[in-house]
This record gives sequence, C-alpha cells and structure tokens, in this order.
Amino acid sequence: MEVQNFVNDLNKDFFNGALSPAFTEQLLQLPMDRPDVFAMVQRMFGAMNQANFPAQDLSVMVGEVLGTLLARILPGAWEGRVPPITVPGRHKVIDQYIKNRMGSTAGSKSMLDIGCGFPPYTTLESSKLVSDWKIIAADPSLPVYLVYDEQENYATFDADKNVIYFQPSIPSVENWNALLSDAKATKARFGGLLDELLSQPHPSTSGNPRLETNPIKAYETDKLSFVRGGIGQVDIEPVDCIRCFNVLYYFDDAFFQNALQWFENKLNEGGMLLAGGNWAASSECYYHEYQKIDGHLVEKEFAFGIDTLCPFGVVTWYANHDDDRQTARLIHYLGIIRKDKSFMDEFYKLNDALRAKYGLCPRDAHGYYGIVDPSISPLELWQLVEKIINELNEAGLNHKAAEVLNQAGLKARINEVGHVAINLQ
Ligand SMILES: C[S@@+](CC[C@H](N)C(=O)[O-])C[C@H]1O[C@@H](n2cnc3c(N)ncnc32)[C@H](O)[C@@H]1O
Repeated sequence: MEVQNFVNDLNKDFFNGALSPAFTEQLLQLPMDRPDVFAMVQRMFGAMNQANFPAQDLSVMVGEVLGTLLARILPGAWEGRVPPITVPGRHKVIDQYIKNRMGSTAGSKSMLDIGCGFPPYTTLESSKLVSDWKIIAADPSLPVYLVYDEQENYATFDADKNVIYFQPSIPSVENWNALLSDAKATKARFGGLLDELLSQPHPSTSGNPRLETNPIKAYETDKLSFVRGGIGQVDIEPVDCIRCFNVLYYFDDAFFQNALQWFENKLNEGGMLLAGGNWAASSECYYHEYQKIDGHLVEKEFAFGIDTLCPFGVVTWYANHDDDRQTARLIHYLGIIRKDKSFMDEFYKLNDALRAKYGLCPRDAHGYYGIVDPSISPLELWQLVEKIINELNEAGLNHKAAEVLNQAGLKARINEVGHVAINLQ
C-alpha cells in the first residue's frame, strides 16, 4: 500500500481526518517495505482511539518517532531479534520503588534483572542504589565483542562476529538516521573495524576506535553478575525480586503467561516481580506488581505514570501484538481518565503551561502539540520531561487521576513513587 493512502486511512479511521499536516508529514516517512511497521502503527492508532486521544495531543515529535525511529527499533530491523536498547536513568523511579518496598526489611536481598539490555546501564544504576543486594542480570544478546567507532557509536557482535546491534552515541532521531539510512553499510563498516582491531597485536581498549572482548565481564563485582540467556533459559537460584522491563511488550500473551510461570519458580516466597515498560527518565512508566504468596504468583497492582496521559514518546501504545495485556490495561485506565472532562481541563491547563515553559512540544496556533525547541539537546530534553512529570505530580494531578478511577469503581492509590496504582486483588 502507498504510504500516503495508509496515512490518509489512519487519519480518517481513527481521528476523523483531524490529524495535523505537520504530524502526517512525519508519518509519510514510514518505510513502504516494512509491513511490520505498518501493522505496529495501525495497532498503536487503535490504542490511541480506544483511550480517546484527540489528534491535537499527538505532537510533531511523536509523529517523528513513529515516522522514522520506530522502523529502526522494531525486531523487523534486526532479523527478528529484540534490540538490546536501554537508556541510562530509565529505571530511576522503578529502582526507588523497589528499594522502598523491599529495602527496609532486614538483610540484603537478591534481584534478577531479566532482559537487562546492553550496555547494562540500568542494571549498574540499580546495583549502585541497592549496593548490598546480590544482583544477577541476564540477556540473550550479551555480546562477545563490542566496537566503538570514532564518534563513540557502537556495535555489538556475537561469537561468530555477526553484528547483533548498533547504536549512535546519543540516540537522537538524526543520529539514528545517520547509522540506519544504510544499515548494511553500517554493519559492514563496523565489521571491518572489528577485523581491523582484532588483527592488531594489542587492540586499543581506550579512546576511539576501540574494542572490548566479553565486555560484560568488566561490569561484574562480587555483588553483580551477568548471564547470557533469557526467560525460561537461565539457570539461577530463586531471588527476592525480579525486574523485567521493556521485554514482554515484544511478545504475545502466550509468552507472557509462560513467563509468569517461570517467574513464579524463580522467586522466593514473598518475593516481588515488577514487569512493565517505560522510556528515558522513567517517563511513560507502567508495570504490574506480582508477589509470590503460598507458592503462587499473585497479581497485586498495576501502576502507571501521569505522563502516559500525554506522552512525549510512544511507549504508552508500544505493543507488538494485539493481545498485549499490559497495553490493553493501561489504555483502559487512560480511557476512563480521559473521558472526565473536568479532570482533563485541569490536566491540560498545567501540562500545556509546562510544555510552553520548557519548550517541549507546546501547542501551536491551531491547538496541536508541536515541536521541541531546537536549542534543547537530546539529553536536556529528558531532564525537562522528568521535571514536567514531577511538577504534574506535585500539583496533585496524579491524586486527582486516581480519584477519577475510584469514582469509576476501581481501587486506586498513589504509590510510593507517585504513580497511579490500581489494586487488582
Ligand atoms: C528493549 S531491551 C530492554 C533493556 C532493559 N531491560 C531496559 O528496560 O532498558 C529488551 C531486551 O530483551 C532481551 N530479550 C529478548 N528476548 C528475551 C527473552 N526471551 N528473555 C529475556 N530477555 C529477552 C533483548 O535481548 C533486549 O536486550
């Protein structure tokens, strides 16, 4: 199908033709040769529609991420493998939550970070925060070789020197485009760099370019270890806490169900499982909390951040399968909240003012969320997003959203880190 027709249909079917030209222009960059991307976008628009997202709330930045970045981060771009994408600071709030919930009890704890990604920034951050815990991190894509180029972009390789993944030093849309506009050439360039570095008697391990062999070993300590393998594969003793973030949304519900079974076996009695998704600076956070009680995993709460009501990124709708239970649940709650006009009026009043104040996709003259102030760097952007989330919470909008859910007959509270948490027991 022509991209133009696809975008026109999306606009008509899900937004009554109300999407802004600036947003649809971004979508026109969707790659025609990637049915997986089309299917994903269609599913995401279905979710937006179900949760009553109006066209005006889709910023040009969201359009850009959908139009250009999405194709590059879906498994379809990596021979079906789930890319090991992770971002420093991503689990800051989740770590605080885990520490609050488990840290006060006597003795050190153990944790499994499954699908930790690479480089394991977020695992390292957790091991700093709960420095007396024993942490095991596992991922099927832990590399054997890691090569950095002159610009500090990197590529990871398996034992057979096949590229597993590559990423720009700062993962902005522009930098991704520079590497992925010709992925074959980028892979070949990194492959050549690996051969060149391996052929040197003492390949450089500092500066640029450089090579690290079995790079994960460098991160290990007496409290932190890494294992190559995934859910159902790694052989470990049961732990007190399992964190599984940004993994399950790549799989269908049968996988999710089997994963729960495996998690149950890998948790100590009373242990906690947190499974969910999020993006940089703990934005767009959502997660289930389970606890092992009398030998069985009990679904306790589902929690989410207030920013999912108007996300800066696309994780809120990021389901790779139609039967993704977590996205469906999030969308259901957002739909209830979004239907409450008086709450939304109050939410928009502050949210729009903060976007204008920080230059992050403020509304344009026609009422559509727009672009990021070009003077803001990608790093600053997520610091500002974090500020906005904190200010929305400080103004009590998370509490008010929970009240809306309570009025709808649910049992919602604000949890220890400011997320709206719905009791599922
Ligand atoms: C998007 S990354 C998430 C990394 C990190 N947990 C985070 O939240 O930033 C998804 C990771 O899941 C891993 N993965 C793929 N299949 C898996 C499986 N069956 N079990 C566990 N992890 C898996 C991938 O290798 C990848 O590193």
